[in-house]
Amino acid sequence: MTPLVPFVRSPDNGPNAALVDALCRAAPDLDVRVLGEIAPERLHEVTVAIADGPSEGQLARLPNLRLVQSTWAGVEAILPVLPAGVEVARMVDPRLAETMAEAVLAWTLHLHRDMPRYARQQRNGQWIVHELVHASHRRVGVLGLGVLGRAAVETLRDHGFDVTGWSRSPKSIDGVECFHDGLDGGGVDALLRRSDIVVNLLPHTEATTGLLGAAAFAQMPTGSSLINFGRGPT
Ligand SMILES: NC(=O)c1ccc[n+]([C@@H]2O[C@H](COP(=O)([O-])OP(=O)(O)OC[C@H]3O[C@@H](n4cnc5c(N)ncnc54)[C@H](OP(=O)(O)O)[C@@H]3O)[C@@H](O)[C@H]2O)c1
Repeated sequence: MTPLVPFVRSPDNGPNAALVDALCRAAPDLDVRVLGEIAPERLHEVTVAIADGPSEGQLARLPNLRLVQSTWAGVEAILPVLPAGVEVARMVDPRLAETMAEAVLAWTLHLHRDMPRYARQQRNGQWIVHELVHASHRRVGVLGLGVLGRAAVETLRDHGFDVTGWSRSPKSIDGVECFHDGLDGGGVDALLRRSDIVVNLLPHTEATTGLLGAAAFAQMPTGSSLINFGRGPT
């Protein structure tokens, strides 16, 4: 029998017809259907679901659910509505990592070359040239060395910045000093203390909530900046 795979999306957003059609075409050996269109007596058949921003209670309707494949890169929206014991896999898109690394580079250059200050001066009709800092002397720290963080540190490194990164578990990336949690890892504080520009690419989870608060900012060098590509609660 063709496995029944519900497409689960908050009713507030309505079904994403184009995505459901694309999934049906890409996986003809699966019976992909919008959750609300599945007869209640068939819900027990479901072990795997595809979620595209589900709302509270939708996944709990599937008593034998074991795995949810999310269509999103972030996990913050799905973790609070995930029933206990169910695994979640998220979307990893190499194109997203590439465009995100490009955006990290763009905003890093924006701060590195003092663009906000020059824009301010331009508005005030002022011509003042400031000292140029070479990229190799600009210390950029990236929080999170996952799919997006790794692509970002490699791009920054290739542009000559002095790059460090932080993750929970140890990492080894050519030309990038990597800190991690644990006895010999240096931890997040080591990165904050030495960074002129901090880039946040951490997921928003319980453990990262509030990580970048007053105590963290107090450790950063005077005049340093934060680029937040993560979520506000972090
Ligand atoms: N602004 C945007 O447009 C946009 C777009 C997409 C995604 N995002 C955000 O970027 C985040 C990162 O995406 P990603 O694909 O790089 O994620 P990922 O592959 O899961 O990487 C997460 C990284 O954060 C580290 N980390 C540190 N503390 C953690 C904790 N308490 N819980 C989980 N991870 C922790 C992980 O360490 P380990 O490697 O040691 O596990 C890992 O290196 C997403 O969650 C999303 O919020 C933003």
